[in-house]
Amino acid sequence: MKKILLSAVSLLLLVSCSNEESNSTSDLATTSTHDHRGCASHEVHEQQLRENPELAAKMQEIERFTQNAIANGRLVNGKIQIPVVVNVLYRTAAENISLTQIQSQIDVLNKDFNATNSDFNHVPTVFSGVKANVGISFVLDAVYRKSTTKTSWGTRDAMKKSTQGGINPTSPTTKLNLWVCTIGGGILGYAQFPGGSSATDGVVIDSKYLGTTGTATAPFNKGRTATHEVGHWMNLRHIWGDTTCGSDLVSDTPTHNTANYGLPAFPHYSTCTGTPIEMTMNYMDYTDDAGMYMFSNGQKSRMLAIFASGGSRFSFAQP
Ligand code: ARG
Ligand code: ZN
Ligand code: CA
Repeated sequence: MKKILLSAVSLLLLVSCSNEESNSTSDLATTSTHDHRGCASHEVHEQQLRENPELAAKMQEIERFTQNAIANGRLVNGKIQIPVVVNVLYRTAAENISLTQIQSQIDVLNKDFNATNSDFNHVPTVFSGVKANVGISFVLDAVYRKSTTKTSWGTRDAMKKSTQGGINPTSPTTKLNLWVCTIGGGILGYAQFPGGSSATDGVVIDSKYLGTTGTATAPFNKGRTATHEVGHWMNLRHIWGDTTCGSDLVSDTPTHNTANYGLPAFPHYSTCTGTPIEMTMNYMDYTDDAGMYMFSNGQKSRMLAIFASGGSRFSFAQP
């Protein structure tokens, strides 16, 4: 990403230099006194273009990317910005949650993924070297609402299909679709990992555990269910690896015995190899919302990788 931006910057430099030159050709007096000293990048680039005929096409592609990214608002200060489409399915008035509650969830995602959550400084010193600012932001793109007679939707993706009374996803290869409904069975939310069908791509959050206001219910009323599920959507596994002393494929997170619940006292030691202190405050554990407040650098790398060129969610970074 940095390389692309740098190239785009040098292209802009080239364009501004070219303009300067074409302006000056209409004014011979200016041209004769203007030696282009501040603009060597232009001559260098001209030379490179002569030597490498493919460069022009490559730079054109970079410019297309840059212009699309700017026009679509996907890259803000060089960072990925994900448009979020919220699909609300309701039977009761309470399930038809307010825009305020929806926005409170977007706000939490922005804080948690940019290390601006107020509890980020609660991360114990032992993990301060690996706590991450992921640097991905989210913007509410649209809210769709549909009334239903269903009392609960389960976890078989019915809420994602209009043929089953749900709402089909909108632009699922460029927008994160978030369904809000009553799931049932004590499930707070669930996500589809990268690589699945785009027809069912996105995350589902029970309306009682979405955001921080309205129907949001303690101890899951700090919006961390969506942070956790979006973590899965960006390819993160549970920190305990879904088996005893399992692996989450991230090297800077300690091996956990199993899921942690509630608000674990610190330090909580693992009995797995090396008996490390568990990172119970990681978003990918199962504690109460108040007990989770960090991603690790290794998790950040895993997430950013899917948005890189060739990554399964590259389309979200390049419209
Ligand atoms: N998929 C998990 C579940 O439904 C989500 C856990 C989220 N944890 C939380 N504190 N919000 O159980
Ligand atoms: Zn999970
Ligand atoms: Ca690990």
